[in-house]
Amino acid sequence: MEDKLQRKFDDITEWQKRYCKQDITCDEVIDIYNEWAGVGYDEMMSSEIWGCPKIVADTLEEVHGSDDEKIRLKILDIGAGSGQCGIELKKKGFQHIDGLEPAESMLAKAKEKNVYETYINTAMTDKDLDINDGIYDVVTASGVAGYFCSKAVREMTRIVKSGGTIVIISNYEQREFHGNLEGTLKSLENEHKIVLLKREVKEGYLHKQRADVMVFKVL
Ligand SMILES: C[S@@+](CC[C@H](N)C(=O)[O-])C[C@H]1O[C@@H](n2cnc3c(N)ncnc32)[C@H](O)[C@@H]1O
Repeated sequence: MEDKLQRKFDDITEWQKRYCKQDITCDEVIDIYNEWAGVGYDEMMSSEIWGCPKIVADTLEEVHGSDDEKIRLKILDIGAGSGQCGIELKKKGFQHIDGLEPAESMLAKAKEKNVYETYINTAMTDKDLDINDGIYDVVTASGVAGYFCSKAVREMTRIVKSGGTIVIISNYEQREFHGNLEGTLKSLENEHKIVLLKREVKEGYLHKQRADVMVFKVL
């Protein structure tokens, strides 16, 4: 079993090497995911090795665990990919989840699973999102926020209502590639737009890679 997982991880690492580059563009990342979706992304990134979606769902449940919240909260899963995070959130009982995903082939996989209420085919870029201020109670970013420029991090905050929650789980081992994330979150904290509720490093992000778990409240 361990050998099988290690082989899977080695295959995934080949894809990681393609997008873990300091100067990669948003379009290049999306092209990689479109290609990956067509050659067995879901089989490679199965739940026995890809633990990030479950960590997101566990983390959100720690903050919003009541039945009432699970029924009521409107969640946007950013960088929804093939829908794995949406599935984990649904398993916990969260009911209203939209998915935002730029790679059409990944989004098609999510649609096959019938996970989200609304499917938004766009990327987080340096442009305004076509989403109104404060309409979500929660946004989740499962293994995706490392791709965001500063404006994208700010947009993620803008669309969450005051009192709402942002859950970001990224790859602790690859944090040197997450150039804009940490600095922009710090600026938003200094501007009193968000406050950090929780930060921890957890096992099980992807095989032996660890998760950088961040939870913020929007002020
Ligand atoms: C590792 S996958 C994670 C997918 C899903 N969140 C999960 O946990 O299974 C990263 C996803 O982020 C998406 N992505 C990459 N750049 C993005 C951007 N600028 N805005 C939104 N999503 C992006 C990719 O297309 C890909 O589907």
